Amino acid sequence: MNKSNQKYLAAFIAQRIEMGESEWNVSLRPTFEKNLKKSVTPTYADHNLISQQTASSVVSEDVQSACSRSMFSDTLISGNDSLKELYGEVCGCKRCQLGSLRKNFVFGEGNPDADIMFIGEAPGAEEDAQGLPFVGRAGQFLTQMIEAIKLHRKDIFIANILKCRPPGNRDPRPEEIEMCEPILKRQIEIIKPQVICALGRISGQTLLRTGDTLGSLRGRVHNYHDVKLIVTYHPAALLRNYKWKRPAWEDLKFLRREYDGMEL
Ligand code: URA
Repeated sequence: MNKSNQKYLAAFIAQRIEMGESEWNVSLRPTFEKNLKKSVTPTYADHNLISQQTASSVVSEDVQSACSRSMFSDTLISGNDSLKELYGEVCGCKRCQLGSLRKNFVFGEGNPDADIMFIGEAPGAEEDAQGLPFVGRAGQFLTQMIEAIKLHRKDIFIANILKCRPPGNRDPRPEEIEMCEPILKRQIEIIKPQVICALGRISGQTLLRTGDTLGSLRGRVHNYHDVKLIVTYHPAALLRNYKWKRPAWEDLKFLRREYDGMEL
């Protein structure tokens, strides 16, 4: 393995450790180095990567006429016509390969007037099956995190950077983020939250266009298009690594303080 790929491998391992994984299988097949290069390069740090395309330009081209579970739009985002309209525009999106692989488009759910938005990375298997964000084990833990700061899921809005599940829960690819992030941007414009909580390193790095570590992104208020943004651990990482629960609790208290001054 040459020097540059050693660097990618080191970054890959650091990333998995940060996610709380202590074991993984690495297969050094010929394609591995190529894939590694693709998925581990610090693409989230590239400020120019994500074009300024709007959500409607994302959907105007290849959208299927019908959404697989369009009835969700009523229950997920009731009471907000703009959000419903956006859902109708984007729920059949096939702009990237994930659109053909998904079972369901996972738009997000919650209060369309939420003051706080939680933003994860991408749907997992359970979310893909149900068409809802954070409904698997990590989702149940997220619900507990939300309730720990004396809020309920129905008070907030939960979304992901990607709306479709990457196969095998691999990291989102830059081109997928580029296609999908405009939808999230539109959601944020419509919901107008006071605070965004980015769940995990990939969410934080993607939204903030930085390659900084999760450790350095935590504990500060960032600015995301004039909305306060706080970064904390991904709930899946907390399930895998008990020692991060205490600092995550500090982040959540910080979030609540920044939101309305409540001390927990
Ligand atoms: N992990 C995420 O980042 N998002 C989900 O919706 C579920 C798991």
